[in-house]
Amino acid sequence: MPGRASNYKRRRREVGKALATARGLFVTFEGGEGAGKSTQIRLLAETLRANGHTVVTTREPGGSAGAEALRHVLLSGAAEPFGVRMEALLFAAARADHLDCVIRPALARGEIVLCDRFVDSSRVYQGVTGNIEPPLMAALERVSIGSTMPDVTLVLDLAAAEGLQRARRRAGASAEGASPDRFEKEKLEIHEKRRQGFLDIAAREPERCRVVDGSLEVEHIARDILSEVTRVMAGRASGDGGQAARS
Ligand code: TYD
Repeated sequence: MPGRASNYKRRRREVGKALATARGLFVTFEGGEGAGKSTQIRLLAETLRANGHTVVTTREPGGSAGAEALRHVLLSGAAEPFGVRMEALLFAAARADHLDCVIRPALARGEIVLCDRFVDSSRVYQGVTGNIEPPLMAALERVSIGSTMPDVTLVLDLAAAEGLQRARRRAGASAEGASPDRFEKEKLEIHEKRRQGFLDIAAREPERCRVVDGSLEVEHIARDILSEVTRVMAGRASGDGGQAARS
């Protein structure tokens, strides 16, 4: 369908141009299984919308038509027999499509994007516990995200055993049934390694990442997250990128 293809190319060009003036805010949520990311994204989105902001909530893997097509392949375990490199490439392909079709256009419109998992999940799941060699991870990152890094990343930190228990309760209550996905079913020690992986990223990139205690009451966590995001927004408004507010 030539019409569709040229529309798509034109849209990508438009997004590329708009990027130069992008003023939105890109917030990602990271953490292990059952850390409470989706609840916190919902609460933050509600509060920001009530304050007049336009908010896009999205998730990975997925979030755009192309990426959602890959989500099933990845989470069902259909790609697992082909190895972690294949999975890493698919996560990166899904991310590139998600950025092109959803995240960058929203940022270019000046909106706030709240994304459930992003590049740090690949760094941890495929890089740290998948043992993918760092040069390949870096290359995939360059190709899939370019310079679109989150303005702020909230790492919800929770003991792996507690997170898994929550994820299993949630799966039991959902229409999809109780069976864990490709990643949830892995051993506890792997989940603990992932927890540490996220904490290590946060320690290496303190300007971008904030660790939030995921064991606290939902409302307490929501308040902490809102104050972090408000701080970054206030810092941007004053033109220092949030640095003064953080120090
Ligand atoms: P999902 O059902 O969205 O659950 P949750 O985010 O609540 O854990 O599952 C996404 C799974 O995919 C999760 O186990 C982490 C994994 N994942 C990766 O391995 N690499 C990635 O780059 C991303 C985005 C997710």
